[in-house]
Amino acid sequence: MTTARTTYDVAAVRADFPALRAGAAHFDGPGGSQVPRQVAEAVAATLTAPIANRGQVTAAERHADAVVHAARAAVADLVAGDPGGVVFGRSMTQLTYDLSRTLAAGWGPGDEVVVTRLDHDANVRPWVQAATARGATVRWADLDPDTGELTAEALAAVLSDRTRLVALPGASNLIGTRPDVAALTALAHRAGALAYVDGVHLTAHAPVDVAALGADLYACSPYKFLGPHLGCAVAAPSLLETLHPDKLLPSTDAVPERFELGTLPYELLAGTTAAVDYLAGLGGDDGDRRGRLVAGLTAVEAHEDRLRERVEEGVAELPGVTSWSRAAHRTPTLLYTFADRPAAEVSRALAQRGVNAPAGSFYAIEVSRRLGLGDTGGLRVGLAPYSDDDDVDRLLDGLRAALAQA
Ligand SMILES: Cc1ncc(COP(=O)(O)O)c(C=O)c1O
Repeated sequence: MTTARTTYDVAAVRADFPALRAGAAHFDGPGGSQVPRQVAEAVAATLTAPIANRGQVTAAERHADAVVHAARAAVADLVAGDPGGVVFGRSMTQLTYDLSRTLAAGWGPGDEVVVTRLDHDANVRPWVQAATARGATVRWADLDPDTGELTAEALAAVLSDRTRLVALPGASNLIGTRPDVAALTALAHRAGALAYVDGVHLTAHAPVDVAALGADLYACSPYKFLGPHLGCAVAAPSLLETLHPDKLLPSTDAVPERFELGTLPYELLAGTTAAVDYLAGLGGDDGDRRGRLVAGLTAVEAHEDRLRERVEEGVAELPGVTSWSRAAHRTPTLLYTFADRPAAEVSRALAQRGVNAPAGSFYAIEVSRRLGLGDTGGLRVGLAPYSDDDDVDRLLDGLRAALAQA
């Protein structure tokens, strides 16, 4: 049986992150997390051991092959997917552009594609542009600006028997909303459409099961969950078999390699495996990696939620602050604006005190505009597995001081 650690040992976690020794309090995790030394060591070890293009003849070739297989298995465990359906790429944005063009090859006038006002632009623009290029129609599922929710009703209103694909978020990187993805994908499937879920923000904050979410394609980015900078997409191999991206003549047509252009970054794949193993380690030592991942991410979620509540309670006592993170179910990612001063100014004041909380709309441009915040967004405060109570104290002290300056 797998058991979660009863208490989350954040001091032990922090000791694994060399970057924290520089002293900043990091609330910038939604933009990219800090990295534990185990991940950096795995990257370095892969670059310093003999390595070649994938093959089976030399030890160097077998090393590269093993690194790729290990990384597919790790990401599959992370999201309960099939290792044979894990595709790696430079970033989620690149993979989504590539997959949207490939999927759109089968679309034409009369077909419809649904995007949402809750998504990061990487899960909007590729679909809008691919649909437009094929003469297909784009329909928008709206975000409720008062609650921050993307409801089943909003999606149902724009679905039809012509919908070919619904692109939706696992969670919002701007306001943290976690829509009921399973309910939304069920609606998409009932309309006969595929569901493409942007899991970049969600994967860092909660255990994920792609089948339970109903995601036909699920995209995420290891650099958001303690890993290196690359992207991955997960789908059933049987679905990938039906898709035919442009590829070089001599490159393999096998799935998932068919979707991976050129040579993979082996060292970053090894770092991804190490990041997944690190998260699994937070779930204790018993049981298989998937079980430990669920336990570890459940513990991370509880830890981050406790700190989120502390931030929310502390900020609620400050004058003139508006919180835009209001959804019933949300990640520990909070967006704030201030009555008397631009968020960018508050962010700069915090930075002077070593508190890193950036301001902006973070490419979630549709969300920001729908909330009435234009392209400016607000101050984003994100909790991560290495965040602690001292960080929260520093943030609240910094906000108090920044807002006290007339
Ligand atoms: C929710 C969400 N989706 C997509 C992306 C884009 O990811 P990538 O940088 O891997 O292209 C981001 C990056 O911030 C994100 O937060």
